[in-house]
Amino acid sequence: MQICQELSLPSMGCGTWAWGNRLLWGYDESMDAQLQAVFNLCVSNGVTLFDTGDSYGTGRLNGRSESLLGRFSREYLGSGKENICIATKLAAYPWRWTRQSMVSACKSSAKRLGKNVDLVQMHWSTANYAPWQEKGLLDGLADLYEQGLVKGVGLSNYGPKRLKRVHQRFAERGVPIATLQVQYSLLSTYPVTELEVKDVCDQLGIKLIAYSPLALGLLTGKYSEKGPFPKGIRGLLFRQMLPGIRPLLASLREVAQSRNKTMSQVSINWCICKGAIPIPGAKSMEQAKENIGALGWELNSGEIAELDQAAASADKKMVQNIFQTR
Ligand SMILES: NC(=O)c1ccc[n+]([C@@H]2O[C@H](COP(=O)([O-])OP(=O)(O)OC[C@H]3O[C@@H](n4cnc5c(N)ncnc54)[C@H](OP(=O)(O)O)[C@@H]3O)[C@@H](O)[C@H]2O)c1
Repeated sequence: MQICQELSLPSMGCGTWAWGNRLLWGYDESMDAQLQAVFNLCVSNGVTLFDTGDSYGTGRLNGRSESLLGRFSREYLGSGKENICIATKLAAYPWRWTRQSMVSACKSSAKRLGKNVDLVQMHWSTANYAPWQEKGLLDGLADLYEQGLVKGVGLSNYGPKRLKRVHQRFAERGVPIATLQVQYSLLSTYPVTELEVKDVCDQLGIKLIAYSPLALGLLTGKYSEKGPFPKGIRGLLFRQMLPGIRPLLASLREVAQSRNKTMSQVSINWCICKGAIPIPGAKSMEQAKENIGALGWELNSGEIAELDQAAASADKKMVQNIFQTR
């Protein structure tokens, strides 16, 4: 067994789901220079964790997010380069079920990145629909660590029960689980308040990563009931959600104004205060700059309690990922 190098996890990361998705997010190649500038700005400000997935980018753009991250990290020459941590997620595709298929998938990701993956994560559990598939995938994930092909291993969309089981299984092989990634924001408190994954993570020494911390943009305050709405599925979702989250947005706005921060910054800071590592997706320099402004200060306990209460009484919540297990 190889000794894996240590993972370097900052208090905030950057998501790159949008970096390659034409259908959902309107990405096209003309955005690459801007995304590179976003990458550089993040790293030079200590935001050195980048989350991607081998399913990010469809059709002709297959693997695009990983390829871009590889290029950007190679070309980046500024400070913090040594701390860059690329976290990819391997999809539990139906045709992937042997342990070797996971090792091959991670090697393909490494090829796109032009370097080894730092943190490899199981994108989702197949427990809800094809439980027989999961054993091989998880064994493969642990093989990657044992073979020294990754610095760390993580899971995504796992609930506490499954997490404990996988932890036990990996512990028998001496493979630590570094991170668990769940949908966590003021509009998606379910994994923490109901499933109690944070408590389990703390018990097992696992860092919690909060994905979609801005609820796909809803918590930024830039979308209103009158529109305009983003194109496609997000637009439909926002139309349904906005009327039911008025009090939450009002509370967020109030806290933001009293702090001289933006609603995005308060939403991201709330995740950090809850002990999670948020990975907001930024597509432009303006968004990246704003999100970086969530670092270096902390909401106080009164503000957190006010936001918690507003979140708990929101009529609408984000739909949970269908793959989230218990
Ligand atoms: N494990 C999983 O199953 C899973 C699932 C989903 C996401 N993720 C990860 O989590 C990352 C982040 O999640 P996400 O992209 O779904 O949602 P998010 O971070 O909640 O929202 C990102 C979107 O919000 C808008 N935005 C970001 N910063 C902004 C700012 N400062 N001001 C105004 N608008 C801003 C942008 O969209 P517009 O400009 O178009 O409004 C951006 O694409 C993903 O990139 C991915 O790495 C993981």
